[in-house]
Amino acid sequence: MTGVVLAGGEGTRLRPVTEVTNKHLLPVYDRPMIYYPLKTLKEMGCESVVLVTGGEHLGGFAELLKNGNDIGMDIIYRVQENAEGIAQALSRAEGLVKGLFPVILGDNYFSQPPPMPDEPTLFTKEVADPERFGVYQNGQIVEKPTIPASNQAVTGLYVYDERVFSLFDKIKPSDRGEYEITDINNYYLKLGAKVVEMAGDWFDMGTFDSLLRATNYIHDNR
Ligand code: G1P
Repeated sequence: MTGVVLAGGEGTRLRPVTEVTNKHLLPVYDRPMIYYPLKTLKEMGCESVVLVTGGEHLGGFAELLKNGNDIGMDIIYRVQENAEGIAQALSRAEGLVKGLFPVILGDNYFSQPPPMPDEPTLFTKEVADPERFGVYQNGQIVEKPTIPASNQAVTGLYVYDERVFSLFDKIKPSDRGEYEITDINNYYLKLGAKVVEMAGDWFDMGTFDSLLRATNYIHDNR
């Protein structure tokens, strides 16, 4: 199975640290961030992965991971030309993945990867600060609601099938100028995607505080 890891974006919430380095190459305790989502995909059964990132950082990933021999996965690199959102990054994997496949955001850490489901699935987790995330509420997902109606955050792990590639034409950039994965996920819910609450602990690592929390957690639980 081939999975997808999305490692683009400008890392604006981590400036100035991300001024010259891609967020996903920053250290999280003793590994570059990207190792953790790759490990999750491997544990879900992926022997290969499509890594999508901005062209300016491709060299850093290639230098670090090469063809993936050291981590026991085959890596295929694809470039997202402009940082215009997670959904746009995912569209760059078209033609390289088949059947059901997992997609993970490069800044997501899962302590316990779920078993690979047998149908399209979105994974949620109860959090104390849902306003920072896409929130699953009243049967649909709202991206960063000011007043969340539930505390179920939609994590950055999704299982799609090839139908996902026909949905990109249907969505438009959001107010933050990005093609949002939440818009794709709301279409998937209409197509009957399952919503499953994750076991174990989950961290995004996209802000200084969440990066610090993840680093401490990994240090304490190694
Ligand atoms: C993205 C998604 C959001 C999701 C989060 C998980 O947010 O848009 O729905 O809850 O990842 O990490 P972003 O990190 O791009 O703000």
